[in-house]
Amino acid sequence: MLKGRSLIEPGDFSLEETEALFDLAEKIEADENHLRESCRGRLLATLFFEPSTRTRLSFEAAMLRLGGNCLGFADPGSSSASKGESLADTVRMAASYADVIVMRSPKEGAALLASRYSGVPVLNAGDGGHHHPTQTLTDLLTIRRLRGEIRDLTVGFCGDLKFGRTVHSLAKALAGYKNVRVVCVSPEELVIPEYIAMALKKRNVEFVETRNLEEAMPELDVLYMTRVQKERFFNEEDYIRLKDAFVLNAEKMALGKSDLVVLHPLPRVNEIAVEVDSDPRAAYFKQAKYGMYARMALLSSVLGVA
Ligand code: CP
Repeated sequence: MLKGRSLIEPGDFSLEETEALFDLAEKIEADENHLRESCRGRLLATLFFEPSTRTRLSFEAAMLRLGGNCLGFADPGSSSASKGESLADTVRMAASYADVIVMRSPKEGAALLASRYSGVPVLNAGDGGHHHPTQTLTDLLTIRRLRGEIRDLTVGFCGDLKFGRTVHSLAKALAGYKNVRVVCVSPEELVIPEYIAMALKKRNVEFVETRNLEEAMPELDVLYMTRVQKERFFNEEDYIRLKDAFVLNAEKMALGKSDLVVLHPLPRVNEIAVEVDSDPRAAYFKQAKYGMYARMALLSSVLGVA
């Protein structure tokens, strides 16, 4: 039962609970009337202390499609945080107005802290370079929809694996599935953090690191491209030096399997050439749409109406 539960990190829900969410998301996708109006009278608060397009809009679309309503802010400058209000106080207020809170913050651990002060479920929409568990629901649902099941896969992560919170959450979640191999492709300076590498090793996930995307391409079933996270760099010089380290283009796609699935949490900057968009293996726009179904399933479950 997910009623009343917060989602801060991928491990907060069991594999069975996650699969049940995907069953529900698929039901909603197949029949858009399923659970329609189930959240009538319920309110979602969106507290975004960092910019977002997909996560905030897909959560709002999800709540509106379920018959509920939304309130919140997309710019912390328009909230009393700009006057010095603490996160704890902001969350206490939001929890007294709304039935569920979605929040994004540049600070690692902010969502966990918020969940301790909130009387309603808190859904982490990204806390700094740490985790983004609702993106992981989106990513796993996309893999399940496009590959049939989540097992017996070689998944490549490419780009900024140090600061990319979507990578941290998805890698950790994949460790719970059968026979998943992970190939990490990044510059030396942007390797996956030790705590994620350790989590994979602990679950006996075969895990390799490389600097060469071309060499890795032929063995991948899923390629998860990521943006170099400019906002997490301490100096612009390093960002400029590393931002185009890996660019997926038609030439590199030619090295991939015919049933490769290319994912990207988006936004993209330059790491996937626009020419790749028309390749049938490019699934990142579909992935963004699955995010809305995953969030409809999540909201209806934590609100106990599913
Ligand atoms: N994938 C993702 O988190 O996108 P936004 O930053 O646009 O929400």
